[in-house]
Amino acid sequence: MADLELYGPAAHYYEAAFGWDNVEEAQRIAALSGCEQGRVLEPMCGPARLLRGFAAIGFEVVGVDLSPEMLELAAASITTPAEWISADVRDFSLDSGCDLAVCPVNSVAHLTEPDDLVRHLSAVSRNLYSGASYWVQADLSEPRGPGERWAWEIEVDGQPAEFAFSSSTTETDGVEEWTYEVIGTDGDGFRESFPARIWTFDQWRQIIDASAFTHESSFDNDVLERLIVDESLHDVQLTWHQLVKR
Ligand SMILES: C[S@@+](CC[C@H](N)C(=O)[O-])C[C@H]1O[C@@H](n2cnc3c(N)ncnc32)[C@H](O)[C@@H]1O
Repeated sequence: MADLELYGPAAHYYEAAFGWDNVEEAQRIAALSGCEQGRVLEPMCGPARLLRGFAAIGFEVVGVDLSPEMLELAAASITTPAEWISADVRDFSLDSGCDLAVCPVNSVAHLTEPDDLVRHLSAVSRNLYSGASYWVQADLSEPRGPGERWAWEIEVDGQPAEFAFSSSTTETDGVEEWTYEVIGTDGDGFRESFPARIWTFDQWRQIIDASAFTHESSFDNDVLERLIVDESLHDVQLTWHQLVKR
């Protein structure tokens, strides 16, 4: 697990940087899955950004994360039926199965070794009914060149700050170094880097084919445009992949 300040004591900055409204995204995912109600699981749920959208459209929600601070933010943000589980997403068991699962914003990049992803898919499949969809938003790419930096304004406790995300390559194929920065106007803030895994389409396909899932379809970041499931996905950022449990 990435033991990061942004996921721990500074989780409120993550919430400020990524806390946008997700109701439409949840509606589209539910409709494309043919699943309009039931229990939806989010491994690595963080503050439950996307689960809020599912809760708003009537789903019971289940979030799994290792960060107590994130689980606290998640629990405070949803008042409808919800379950919050402190566990490693490579090995967890729920008391009841789920009808749908989602994992947005490249969180699977935290699973840096092939065996981490294999174990994660096995754990998710154990807790999903057959025919259920697991939606994973993940870049599939060739090893990338020197990274780009994205920065945007955020507000924390009424104070303005800048949040930035950047990536750079490392010597290990497919492993990048990602950096989070928070810069407050009062000079407060922090910067931290961590390894993150980006799979090529072929590596991803091998792991999915050996799992309990079929890679059914892929969609753009807005879950609007259906994409061709082949190497051309390398050119698309933040692609949503619909995996269906056999
Ligand atoms: C990028 S955040 C994503 C949060 C949320 N899914 C979202 O869409 O905003 C990644 C989250 O994964 C959690 N995490 C990372 N590795 C984990 C692991 N092995 N088991 C459980 N949680 C993990 C972190 O604590 C953090 O909350």
